[in-house]
Amino acid sequence: MDVRETTLQAAVGAHLAGTHIRRAHRVLQGSGTVAPGLRWPDASDGRDPRADLEAEGRASYAGHYFSPHQASVFDGLYDALPTSPNERDVLLAALLATASDCAAAPGHTAQPFQPTTTALPHIVAAWRIDPLARVRRYIEDLTAVVPRRQGCAAKTTAEEFLNDADLRGAVVFCDPPYSEVQYSRFYHVLEGMAVGGWPSVSGSGRAPELSLRFTSAFSSRRHSTAAFAALFESLRKSGATAILTFPNHLCSNGQSAATLATLAAEQFDVNIQLLDGRHSSLGANASSLGGRVAHRDVAEAVLVLRPRSKR
Ligand SMILES: C[S@@+](CC[C@H](N)C(=O)[O-])C[C@H]1O[C@@H](n2cnc3c(N)ncnc32)[C@H](O)[C@@H]1O
Repeated sequence: MDVRETTLQAAVGAHLAGTHIRRAHRVLQGSGTVAPGLRWPDASDGRDPRADLEAEGRASYAGHYFSPHQASVFDGLYDALPTSPNERDVLLAALLATASDCAAAPGHTAQPFQPTTTALPHIVAAWRIDPLARVRRYIEDLTAVVPRRQGCAAKTTAEEFLNDADLRGAVVFCDPPYSEVQYSRFYHVLEGMAVGGWPSVSGSGRAPELSLRFTSAFSSRRHSTAAFAALFESLRKSGATAILTFPNHLCSNGQSAATLATLAAEQFDVNIQLLDGRHSSLGANASSLGGRVAHRDVAEAVLVLRPRSKR
């Protein structure tokens, strides 16, 4: 932390202490703790700000990912979501898309930007977004196109989805993990908003406890080969043609397009094409880019797995 950050935080603290902002206790210190000098506008108010924050559950992101104003708008909109499934889905999707735009973070939510000289302009730009205007725009976009045939979405694992599925004649697209870092580390803010809040969050990333985060065998160096072998077996049994994208170099989960092609060739006729692609480094080197999302150019392989014709 340099002198400018300290000065900035002191200025925010002084501003909050001198105003009657209703939810000022949601603006936490850089360490994620309540400011020790926090006083309620009404001096006789004896509430514990920490307990209040915990009781609010999802109000854990103000002053971290979202501005206090954005966070309180999101809370209000979430509470006002209708119960009828279709309307709720569209409005929740618009809310999540808006939250994704407003998050002062580098393309994912492992950690918010810190108020450093380089990242501050990105925080200001994200927090300047008017959440209500943005939500309205997303609702208009999402409702402008009406499908002729109703589709469906399933929130489940690939393993469960493919379990005994009959997908003869269908094409399945797989975009599996290539990093040994669990992806649930990067999306917990939007996931938390989608499920109505985590019981508690902590640390500079404001993440829920580890036991609540999804763990994928595809991301584990030790288990990824068995996980991909099982995936290919289920895909073969389903009868589908599969298209699978994967970087063409050895990735941190121990796999490359070549290892997956070899594994898949036990079950399918495999065809590989290479494309130029850009991959998020999932935070690595983000500081060298002024806190924005870091990418690196990689060749992306597209594997087409066709069921073997019976001879
Ligand atoms: C490379 S990302 C692709 C995500 C998405 N296609 C995109 O471009 O943003 C891999 C995704 O696979 C998900 N994943 C991990 N294990 C999974 C499993 N067992 N079944 C289904 N999805 C899984 C991760 O959570 C992650 O979102």
